[in-house]
Amino acid sequence: MSDVDIDALVKRARDVRANAYAPYSNFKVGAVIVTQSGQLFVGCNVENASYGGAICAERSAILQMVAAGESEPVICVVITETDPPASPCGMCRQVLAEFATDMRIVLVGDTKKGEVRRETTLAHLLPDAFRLHV
Ligand code: THU
Repeated sequence: MSDVDIDALVKRARDVRANAYAPYSNFKVGAVIVTQSGQLFVGCNVENASYGGAICAERSAILQMVAAGESEPVICVVITETDPPASPCGMCRQVLAEFATDMRIVLVGDTKKGEVRRETTLAHLLPDAFRLHV
């Protein structure tokens, strides 16, 4: 996974963000998960009139990964229109941590002035994650 094309992942995240269903917050999010085997899974946020029924883009991508029989995410790209770019919420961090102790997290903001990018890691965003079995 060392020769991964981050620009191509960002493009995929941008494309899936366009499909986000966010009529309540108007805050569209796209996510891409890449697994150890090189497979790619996309997700977007899907809101609901019963607000608690909303699912975030990152978890939406993770669900696709699991449904495909994959379980080792190594990169997560998240795209919004904000500067600074949005960082995964606490629940999404915990869900990502279910499948990896660490991974690259690429945060992208598509603003009117251009693109901002920040790279971090899951271990940095969620140190000392809860684990049922240690
Ligand atoms: N959202 C995500 O998709 N990912 C996050 O990590 C944080 C928030 C979504 C949920 C909701 O649809 C909208 O952004 C505003 O909170």
